[in-house]
Amino acid sequence: MAGLIKAFAATLVLCLVTRGLCDCSLNNINIGTVRSGKEISGQAEWNVTVANNCQCAQSQIQLSCMGFQTVENIDPSILSKQGDTCLLINGSSLEASASVNFSYAWDPPFLLLPLGSVIHGC
Ligand SMILES: *[C@@H]1O[C@H](CO)[C@@H](O)[C@H](O)[C@H]1NC(C)=O
Ligand SMILES: *[C@@H]1O[C@H](CO)[C@@H](O)[C@H](O)[C@H]1NC(C)=O
Ligand SMILES: *[C@@H]1O[C@H](CO)[C@@H](O)[C@H](O)[C@H]1NC(C)=O
Repeated sequence: MAGLIKAFAATLVLCLVTRGLCDCSLNNINIGTVRSGKEISGQAEWNVTVANNCQCAQSQIQLSCMGFQTVENIDPSILSKQGDTCLLINGSSLEASASVNFSYAWDPPFLLLPLGSVIHGC
Protein backbone atom coordinates (compact mmCIF):
# COMPACT_ATOMS: atom_id res chain seq x y z
CA MET A 1 0.00 0.00 0.00
CA ALA A 2 2.73 2.42 1.02
CA GLY A 3 4.60 1.43 -2.11
CA LEU A 4 1.55 2.21 -4.20
CA ILE A 5 1.16 5.62 -2.61
CA LYS A 6 4.82 6.33 -3.19
CA ALA A 7 4.52 5.32 -6.83
CA PHE A 8 1.44 7.49 -7.18
CA ALA A 9 3.19 10.45 -5.55
CA ALA A 10 6.20 9.96 -7.81
CA THR A 11 3.95 9.98 -10.88
CA LEU A 12 2.24 13.12 -9.63
CA VAL A 13 5.54 14.93 -9.10
CA LEU A 14 6.77 13.80 -12.48
CA CYS A 15 3.57 15.10 -14.05
CA LEU A 16 3.93 18.47 -12.38
CA VAL A 17 7.50 18.71 -13.60
CA THR A 18 6.50 17.61 -17.09
CA ARG A 19 3.62 20.02 -17.12
CA GLY A 20 6.03 22.82 -16.21
CA LEU A 21 8.14 21.88 -19.21
CA CYS A 22 5.01 21.84 -21.32
CA ASP A 23 4.44 25.47 -20.53
CA CYS A 24 4.80 26.35 -24.18
CA SER A 25 3.25 29.04 -26.25
CA LEU A 26 2.80 29.50 -29.96
CA ASN A 27 6.33 30.86 -29.98
CA ASN A 28 7.47 27.28 -29.55
CA ILE A 29 6.43 26.52 -33.09
CA ASN A 30 9.14 27.81 -35.38
CA ILE A 31 8.45 28.29 -39.04
CA GLY A 32 11.40 28.84 -41.32
CA THR A 33 11.18 29.54 -45.01
CA VAL A 34 14.15 29.41 -47.38
CA ARG A 35 14.33 29.78 -51.13
CA SER A 36 15.16 26.39 -52.60
CA GLY A 37 16.73 27.95 -55.67
CA LYS A 38 14.38 26.10 -58.01
CA GLU A 39 11.54 27.53 -60.05
CA ILE A 40 8.32 25.71 -60.81
CA SER A 41 6.06 27.04 -63.56
CA GLY A 42 7.91 30.35 -63.29
CA GLN A 43 7.34 30.64 -59.55
CA ALA A 44 10.12 30.50 -56.96
CA GLU A 45 10.08 27.40 -54.80
CA TRP A 46 10.31 27.75 -51.02
CA ASN A 47 11.26 25.13 -48.46
CA VAL A 48 9.37 25.44 -45.23
CA THR A 49 10.39 23.82 -41.97
CA VAL A 50 7.90 23.76 -39.12
CA ALA A 51 9.66 22.77 -35.91
CA ASN A 52 8.20 21.97 -32.51
CA ASN A 53 10.53 23.63 -30.03
CA CYS A 54 8.39 22.72 -27.06
CA GLN A 55 9.60 20.02 -24.64
CA CYS A 56 6.33 18.23 -25.28
CA ALA A 57 4.52 16.87 -28.29
CA GLN A 58 1.95 19.09 -29.98
CA SER A 59 -0.93 18.09 -32.19
CA GLN A 60 -3.63 19.90 -34.17
CA ILE A 61 -1.02 22.40 -35.32
CA GLN A 62 -2.74 25.10 -37.32
CA LEU A 63 -1.06 27.75 -39.39
CA SER A 64 -2.49 30.96 -40.62
CA CYS A 65 -2.30 30.72 -44.39
CA MET A 66 -4.57 33.45 -45.64
CA GLY A 67 -4.48 33.65 -49.42
CA PHE A 68 -1.98 30.82 -49.58
CA GLN A 69 -1.42 29.53 -53.09
CA THR A 70 1.08 27.20 -54.68
CA VAL A 71 1.69 25.85 -58.15
CA GLU A 72 3.50 22.89 -56.58
CA ASN A 73 1.26 20.30 -55.01
CA ILE A 74 1.63 19.74 -51.29
CA ASP A 75 0.72 16.34 -49.87
CA PRO A 76 -2.52 17.03 -47.95
CA SER A 77 -1.36 14.68 -45.19
CA ILE A 78 1.47 17.19 -44.60
CA LEU A 79 -0.41 20.44 -45.09
CA SER A 80 -4.06 20.87 -45.90
CA LYS A 81 -5.73 24.22 -46.42
CA GLN A 82 -9.21 24.88 -45.08
CA GLY A 83 -10.13 28.46 -45.73
CA ASP A 84 -7.58 30.75 -44.11
CA THR A 85 -6.21 27.98 -41.92
CA CYS A 86 -3.79 25.21 -42.75
CA LEU A 87 -3.64 22.01 -40.75
CA LEU A 88 -0.25 20.38 -40.34
CA ILE A 89 0.25 16.61 -40.70
CA ASN A 90 -3.48 16.02 -40.57
CA GLY A 91 -3.63 17.10 -36.92
CA SER A 92 -1.30 14.30 -35.84
CA SER A 93 1.13 14.92 -33.05
CA LEU A 94 4.57 16.34 -33.73
CA GLU A 95 7.07 15.13 -31.14
CA ALA A 96 9.25 17.50 -29.12
CA SER A 97 12.12 18.87 -31.24
CA ALA A 98 10.69 17.21 -34.35
CA SER A 99 10.09 19.06 -37.58
CA VAL A 100 8.04 18.76 -40.73
CA ASN A 101 9.21 19.99 -44.10
CA PHE A 102 7.28 20.88 -47.21
CA SER A 103 7.87 22.95 -50.31
CA TYR A 104 5.63 25.26 -52.25
CA ALA A 105 6.06 27.49 -55.26
CA TRP A 106 4.74 31.04 -55.44
CA ASP A 107 6.17 34.50 -55.75
CA PRO A 108 6.25 36.32 -53.37
CA PRO A 109 6.39 33.80 -50.48
CA PHE A 110 3.67 33.76 -47.82
CA LEU A 111 4.07 34.64 -44.19
CA LEU A 112 2.93 31.47 -42.45
CA LEU A 113 2.25 31.90 -38.75
CA PRO A 114 1.29 29.42 -36.05
CA LEU A 115 -2.36 29.87 -35.05
CA GLY A 116 -2.91 27.14 -32.54
CA SER A 117 -2.01 23.70 -31.29
CA VAL A 118 -2.81 21.22 -28.55
CA ILE A 119 0.13 20.69 -26.20
CA HIS A 120 0.47 17.23 -24.72
CA GLY A 121 1.44 17.01 -21.09
CA CYS A 122 0.74 13.87 -19.14
C1 LIG B 1 14.63 22.16 -50.40
O1 LIG B 1 13.93 20.93 -50.27
C2 LIG B 1 14.33 19.96 -51.22
C3 LIG B 1 13.37 18.76 -51.07
O2 LIG B 1 13.32 18.34 -49.75
C4 LIG B 1 15.79 19.60 -50.99
O3 LIG B 1 16.21 18.64 -51.93
C5 LIG B 1 16.64 20.85 -51.11
O4 LIG B 1 17.98 20.56 -50.78
C6 LIG B 1 16.14 21.95 -50.19
N1 LIG B 1 16.87 23.19 -50.47
C7 LIG B 1 17.28 24.02 -49.51
C8 LIG B 1 18.00 25.26 -49.97
O5 LIG B 1 17.05 23.82 -48.32
C1 LIG C 1 -6.76 12.79 -41.81
O1 LIG C 1 -7.46 12.34 -40.66
C2 LIG C 1 -8.83 12.09 -40.90
C3 LIG C 1 -9.52 11.78 -39.58
O2 LIG C 1 -8.62 11.36 -38.61
C4 LIG C 1 -8.94 10.93 -41.88
O3 LIG C 1 -10.29 10.65 -42.15
C5 LIG C 1 -8.24 11.32 -43.18
O4 LIG C 1 -8.25 10.23 -44.08
C6 LIG C 1 -6.81 11.74 -42.92
N1 LIG C 1 -6.26 12.29 -44.16
C7 LIG C 1 -5.02 12.05 -44.57
C8 LIG C 1 -4.64 12.71 -45.84
O5 LIG C 1 -4.25 11.34 -43.94
C1 LIG D 1 13.65 19.54 -42.37
O1 LIG D 1 14.63 20.39 -42.93
C2 LIG D 1 15.59 20.84 -42.01
C3 LIG D 1 16.49 21.85 -42.71
O2 LIG D 1 16.84 21.41 -44.00
C4 LIG D 1 16.35 19.63 -41.45
O3 LIG D 1 17.28 20.04 -40.49
C5 LIG D 1 15.35 18.65 -40.82
O4 LIG D 1 16.02 17.48 -40.40
C6 LIG D 1 14.25 18.30 -41.79
N1 LIG D 1 13.25 17.50 -41.07
C7 LIG D 1 12.68 16.41 -41.60
C8 LIG D 1 11.66 15.74 -40.76
O5 LIG D 1 12.98 15.99 -42.71
